[in-house]
Amino acid sequence: MSTAYPSGPRLPSIVQTLLYAKWRGALLQYAARRYGDVFTLRLIPPYSEHVVVFSRPDHIREIFAADPADLHAGEGNRLLVHIMGEHSLLLTDEAEHARARRLLMPAFSGSSLRGYRTLVEAIAKTHVDRWASGSTVHTLDRMNDLTLDVIMQVVFGMADEHRRGELAPRLRRIVNINPIIFFGWKYPWLDRRGPWKRFSDNQNAMNELLYREIAQRRAHPDLDQRADVLSRLLAVGSGENPSDTPLSDAELRDQLITLLLAGHETTASALSWACHELAVHPQVQESARSAAHDGDDKYLEAVLKESMRRRTVIAATGRRLTRDMTIGGQSLPRGTVVSTSILLAHSRSDSFPDGTDFRPERFLDGSVGPNTWLPFGGGVRRCIGAGFSLMEGTAVLREILTRYRLSLPAGVTGESSRIRNITHVPAHGAPVQVTLL
Ligand code: HEM
Repeated sequence: MSTAYPSGPRLPSIVQTLLYAKWRGALLQYAARRYGDVFTLRLIPPYSEHVVVFSRPDHIREIFAADPADLHAGEGNRLLVHIMGEHSLLLTDEAEHARARRLLMPAFSGSSLRGYRTLVEAIAKTHVDRWASGSTVHTLDRMNDLTLDVIMQVVFGMADEHRRGELAPRLRRIVNINPIIFFGWKYPWLDRRGPWKRFSDNQNAMNELLYREIAQRRAHPDLDQRADVLSRLLAVGSGENPSDTPLSDAELRDQLITLLLAGHETTASALSWACHELAVHPQVQESARSAAHDGDDKYLEAVLKESMRRRTVIAATGRRLTRDMTIGGQSLPRGTVVSTSILLAHSRSDSFPDGTDFRPERFLDGSVGPNTWLPFGGGVRRCIGAGFSLMEGTAVLREILTRYRLSLPAGVTGESSRIRNITHVPAHGAPVQVTLL
């Protein structure tokens, strides 16, 4: 296929890569203003060479509705294979992805989510109980502790506090990974040196903990009575689905680490942004508090959704073309990475004319159009934990709002965003002053 990629910034690819890694929002906004709805970024490893960026709702629909055999998401995420493993739901495609998704989906269905709710509410209460009235709470850190606890108890079914205490610091070390590690993975000999060695040592220790947990759970006498995700996955091949091949320990490990990592930092970031936005907008906070008292979860959910729109948590989804294709009228060769820019989609003035306002009501009055709000991606790869994170976020906001008033600490006027691995988080941890009602 003779191809001219859509035009894009002419800066050397190393400069584009640095801007993409550090100042993604600014680079994307600049490129969209200068080159329009579709443009190409030229990057160097660990990113892909040609990334064609889309944000128009009709283009997004086309990408999410395409045949998953033509657009591989797993390949686009290869960078994470060192952390999540080759079986990870995030990193597989086609038949292997479809099987993993089918086996994991029941644990995230509406009825399963309703079953997790009481435990999530209890965990939220325990964490929020520790806040002292009048103090400044660094919400990103506190929400990370809370969501990690939720994921370890609900996904893993780890009731034992001591065991959670062993696993949590290992996971935190991965979340706080030094970006230099990503760049070093191309050179396996680095594995025995400096930060790469420390990374592998941590990874080995974490795997040991995960495999021990899997072995002990396999032997658990009440396995079929347990509701946590690990126990459900261990039951595959027996009970209701005897025809399924049971998951191997390596598959289980990869899916668990994926859920643990994909599931907690993202939700923590969304929640800390929501706390920040509520502190900045006292009137919305009052409406949210009334909703929390009245059990109006829809409004609390709208607060979370609006926070995720204005403060994007994951900036984009990526798909690698397995054949030459035309997308959004552009002929693109096999190997191109097609990126749906969540960040740009959420700030388009044609989709959100009053986009700079923080207005949760837009999610209740039907004014949000299809394929304009996509924090969870879409199509067959749409985030499997979307419902889980909204259920959890709503429970946490309810707990906070029925007990505390949130305000910005003296001297704080706003908050910017920074990239931590692939998640966008509040740069200063979204500090909020909490006062008992
Ligand atoms: C605010 C919270 C969250 C955000 C913003 C978020 C965002 C995303 C996005 C953008 C994707 C990629 C979708 C695509 O490529 O189209 C994704 C995939 C995924 N997420 Fe989430 N996520 C959140 C919470 C969670 C939770 C709570 C879990 C699990 C407990 C989870 C597990 C996953 C998994 C396993 C995938 C891969 C799905 C696949 O490839 O089939 N996420 N998420």
